Amino acid sequence: MKIYLNLGCGKRYHKEWTNVDFKSNSDNVIECNLLNGIPFQDCKFEVVYHSHVLEHFTKSEGRKFIEECYRVLKKNGIIRIAVPDLEQIVREYLTNLELALSGNQQSKYNYDWIMLEMYDQVLRNKTGGDMAQYLYQAKIPNEQYVYKRIGEEARILRNDYLNNINNKKQEHNKNILNKVKVKINSIKKRIIKLICKRSNVDIKYSNIGKFRSSGEIHQWMYDRYSLNKLLTEVGFKNIEIKTVFESNIPNWEKFKLESENQTIYKPDSLIIEAIKK
Ligand SMILES: C[S@@+](CC[C@H](N)C(=O)[O-])C[C@H]1O[C@@H](n2cnc3c(N)ncnc32)[C@H](O)[C@@H]1O
Repeated sequence: MKIYLNLGCGKRYHKEWTNVDFKSNSDNVIECNLLNGIPFQDCKFEVVYHSHVLEHFTKSEGRKFIEECYRVLKKNGIIRIAVPDLEQIVREYLTNLELALSGNQQSKYNYDWIMLEMYDQVLRNKTGGDMAQYLYQAKIPNEQYVYKRIGEEARILRNDYLNNINNKKQEHNKNILNKVKVKINSIKKRIIKLICKRSNVDIKYSNIGKFRSSGEIHQWMYDRYSLNKLLTEVGFKNIEIKTVFESNIPNWEKFKLESENQTIYKPDSLIIEAIKK
């Protein structure tokens, strides 16, 4: 039985774990909307892990989610949570604000970036938002800073995008399948538009609503104080901040969920572990 649980795993999962996400392209990932609860019985798992998932729920949904994590853990089971660290974002914001005001050009670019981390991830109404536009520009003026902040994920996103553009240019119009797909999508759009018109729904707001409940945007943020408070209130004990390389989970490094060969996937993370009483 797979007694380690990875919730909202995205593409980062291990076949020895029970992995869950909204959508799945793999036999190793179970499809489920975690807002409807965690689909397992009480006290089943020795480890419950989620990375960059909790912030996608509202504050009250987040609390229910942590209560669910508590429920499915065995006594003395470990919860490990990684979230973007609000405290670090705010500290970066204040440092770069001061330096930008004093005229430092690099800090002006860093200020632009940290505003995207703080607001674009919350307020965007379409996939990737302004953050994607920043990452996809021909030359990122503070590339090293951006990679230091959000790590390899940014590099991968940018490279995928640039490769896609090049491939698309070459394949453009060559591929009949693509033409059919474009046609089908345009028909789909027209049908949705018609339905919205008939039912008096503004298509723009319908699309925004659909996007905002798709699990991409941040609905709440945490720091070492608020996450500790939440875990304490739900009943966890032995709450500890960890680095990517530290864990009470046996054989943690083997699973490569947060790093590989010393490369950290999400350096902007606050990582906390705790134990079910
Ligand atoms: C930022 S990604 C993090 C993915 C992965 N854990 C990682 O650290 O790279 C957030 C993940 O949470 C999933 N997610 C968000 N809301 C969800 C929900 N209500 N139910 C299930 N999965 C959800 C998304 O589909 C996405 O894969």
